[in-house]
Amino acid sequence: MKHIRSISEIGKSGVLAIIDRAKQMAEINSRPIPKVPALRGKTVVSLFLEDSTRTRLSFETAAKRLSAETMNFSVSNSSVNKGESLRDTIETISDMGVDAFVVRHKSSGIPWQIEQWTDASIINAGDGAHQHPTQALVDCFTIAESLGTISFEGLTISIVGDIRHSRVARSNVEAFAMLGAKVILVAPNTLLPPDIDHWPVTVSTEIDDVIRETDILYMLRLQSERMDQGLIPNLSEYGNRFGLTEKRVAILPSASRIMHPGPMNRGVEMQVDPSLLSQSLIHRQVANGVSVRMAVLFTALTFNDDRENAIERLAKETAQ
Ligand code: NCD
Repeated sequence: MKHIRSISEIGKSGVLAIIDRAKQMAEINSRPIPKVPALRGKTVVSLFLEDSTRTRLSFETAAKRLSAETMNFSVSNSSVNKGESLRDTIETISDMGVDAFVVRHKSSGIPWQIEQWTDASIINAGDGAHQHPTQALVDCFTIAESLGTISFEGLTISIVGDIRHSRVARSNVEAFAMLGAKVILVAPNTLLPPDIDHWPVTVSTEIDDVIRETDILYMLRLQSERMDQGLIPNLSEYGNRFGLTEKRVAILPSASRIMHPGPMNRGVEMQVDPSLLSQSLIHRQVANGVSVRMAVLFTALTFNDDRENAIERLAKETAQ
């Protein structure tokens, strides 16, 4: 796996391998000094052409904990503002000798386009409304940690909200279904994607109809920045119909868990304070983001090395 760009591209065996590797990384992160030399000599560039807090910082932290060099690119003070094309930007950075680009871009498909302009690994940190594979890996890892197993057979996961604009939903549906879960999407018709018939899901337009059979309630942010038309009547009506309210938390089965990829719209999809909910896995999602992205970087950046040696070295490092 030189590139990590979509869940279908890495496949079930790739998902399982990265989650397995992330357990080793979590062990490193539990040490007083959470740092190993596994990626010494490698250079990772963060190329975020769209806003981000947790994905960008967790990738940076992950690279540093594996001793990779990091380069940070921000549009606001780059030559993009002088009209430089994405191709020239990628080729320029590549010429400096980099091993991986971690890319976030508002257009779907950019990670595949970039492959033509560089020999480096490409890691998709979100392309338009298309894919966000590392978020899906983080979420699968977090659910597996909570369940104590990576098999999601018999599990019902309800993803609620703005599915249409969500790359997280697209990656998560694929990954959850791959691991055996039953996935229910809950949204108003206007926030469902047009090709929904081809997704491995069932669909409901009423959260109250599914909440009692839900093991994992996965709330999504209403992505106002991607909406160019009035797809919902107003925020408060949307919040009443699709938001997580105290009443809904009360009817959620006691063993069920609540997730959200962040950032949250408090008072819209999140009408309760999630930090007060014992069922919330949201802090685990953020914490696991670092371990899973360490596993992603390690996997992509050692694809060409003597892998057995690299894995053995990592195992020794983690055993210390
Ligand atoms: C998501 C994203 O950017 O796709 N956030 C994230 O990476 N944790 C979801 C969102 O923006 O709603």
